[in-house]
Amino acid sequence: MASGFADEKNGKKCGRSPFVNNPHLDSMKEDILYHFNLNTGTLNFPAKFGDVKFVCVGGSPWRMKSFAEYIAGELGLAVPNAEYPNICESTDRYAMYKVGPVLSVSHGMGIPSISIMLHELIKLLYHARCTDVTIVRLGTSGGIGLHPGTVVITKQPMDATFLPRFEQVILGKSVVRSTELDGDLAEELLQCGKDLAEFDTVIANTMCTLDFYEGQARLDGAFCSYTEEDKQNYLAKAYAAGVRNIEMESSVFAAMCKLSNLRAAVVCVTLLDRQKGDQLSSSHDVLHSYQQRPQILVGHYIKKKLNASKKS
Ligand code: URA
Repeated sequence: MASGFADEKNGKKCGRSPFVNNPHLDSMKEDILYHFNLNTGTLNFPAKFGDVKFVCVGGSPWRMKSFAEYIAGELGLAVPNAEYPNICESTDRYAMYKVGPVLSVSHGMGIPSISIMLHELIKLLYHARCTDVTIVRLGTSGGIGLHPGTVVITKQPMDATFLPRFEQVILGKSVVRSTELDGDLAEELLQCGKDLAEFDTVIANTMCTLDFYEGQARLDGAFCSYTEEDKQNYLAKAYAAGVRNIEMESSVFAAMCKLSNLRAAVVCVTLLDRQKGDQLSSSHDVLHSYQQRPQILVGHYIKKKLNASKKS
């Protein structure tokens, strides 16, 4: 049965491996990762991706290209005037860039989009026989009671009723999965925020919703059946549950990474304080500089880890 690699092979210790749990994969001659336009029958996955140790995912293809360029510079791997090729170039679903041991992948907006990407990404890491992979979602969010521009490292993703769980209907039945993330990784990332001392960084719970407007208690969508007071009461309840930011992907990201034995973290910058408004009215330049903060933090973390592993 295809169920990942054990941490021990032939009695020898080997790295922690991405885990799949699907007996049907064994009977497939090749695996077509359709939304990446990659195929195990035509590409040698271990040769192409076997050295991947860090995977950074984020909503926008443009942002993940810019992260690839940024991390190439940070790791001294940048080639002057080089264009980083999009590994998924003949599909417009997702974009993927590889810079040494770092894979940068876009996931689109919302739970369905990131979930499809993660199924294929986890299989990619599995087919490539990667070990000891750390995966981080770099994102944007709405803050609650924080200065805009604060970076939130997620302690635990919660649903819109403030429960730390991800619910999915499979074969007509509700399946509830844990959204636990790696606490040590969150602390290491917080330390990186302290090392940099460039912007505020906190660890807190993140609420993951199914929608940007009514699902996040906005008053500026096409439809709204509640008052400003109802909105404020809801945000106050979220705050009391330890929630400091709201986005739309963290719960399924945490659930799937936990199922596949990946060390995972969610690092999102807050673009506004939702207690003070709903519209993203800051200038383009300000929003752009906020969006770079998760990249800077995680870039610092990756550099620190790679330098430490060179020394050991
Ligand atoms: N992303 C969200 O999901 N909500 C916000 O308010 C901002 C970014």
